[in-house]
Amino acid sequence: MKFFIDTANLDQIAEAEALGVLDGVTTNPSLMAKEGITGRDNIIKHYVDICNIVDGDVSAEVIATDFEGIIKEGEELAALHEQIIVKVPMIKDGVKAIKYLSDKGIKTNCTLVFSPGQALLAAKAGATYVSPFIGRLDDISTDGLSLIADIRQIYDNYGYETEILAASIRHTMHVIDCAKLGADVMTGPLSAITGLLKHPLTDIGLEKFLADYKKGNN
Ligand code: E4P
Repeated sequence: MKFFIDTANLDQIAEAEALGVLDGVTTNPSLMAKEGITGRDNIIKHYVDICNIVDGDVSAEVIATDFEGIIKEGEELAALHEQIIVKVPMIKDGVKAIKYLSDKGIKTNCTLVFSPGQALLAAKAGATYVSPFIGRLDDISTDGLSLIADIRQIYDNYGYETEILAASIRHTMHVIDCAKLGADVMTGPLSAITGLLKHPLTDIGLEKFLADYKKGNN
């Protein structure tokens, strides 16, 4: 399973990269705004800064919502760095643009996916990644994880190569459940990654090992 971090915060990206388990980064306009990155030039520079920290795919989201605008922006973003994946929303012109960009060899991430039908369209259009937002489905009392299971089954039935990028991950159990269901990738906050480290028996066990070592070496 690939681990992506879902943030535009350079310190957190660097911390996850230093852990040695990071495979990429996803961003979106809200995450950029949260870090105070505004204006096209600053946003472009920030994408390049992220690419220089991580060794992996970096999703950069288009703002345009019409076909011509999406492909223009997508081609510009893709030209920034070889690690850039063009993130395109699941709308009619977005699907057309994913097909166009995929045919040109530009990698895409179809975002804002909330149903199996949308995921099927993304795969047929040739998206590199599809991003089902499980946390936001949970937020409205709908089972986000069952969407991952449905997409896995559909993609396996037909051998679609689009990778399932479980997005809107909120906590460690989302990560574990998505791994059990066969999601190819998860993207979440740093806490969802570092949270996997934690177990009280590990802390207790380590404390005892160190105390016993000290006793024998005094
Ligand atoms: C995915 O690529 C999105 O950036 C993200 O996972 C959305 O997560 P949120 O629902 O926590 O905003």
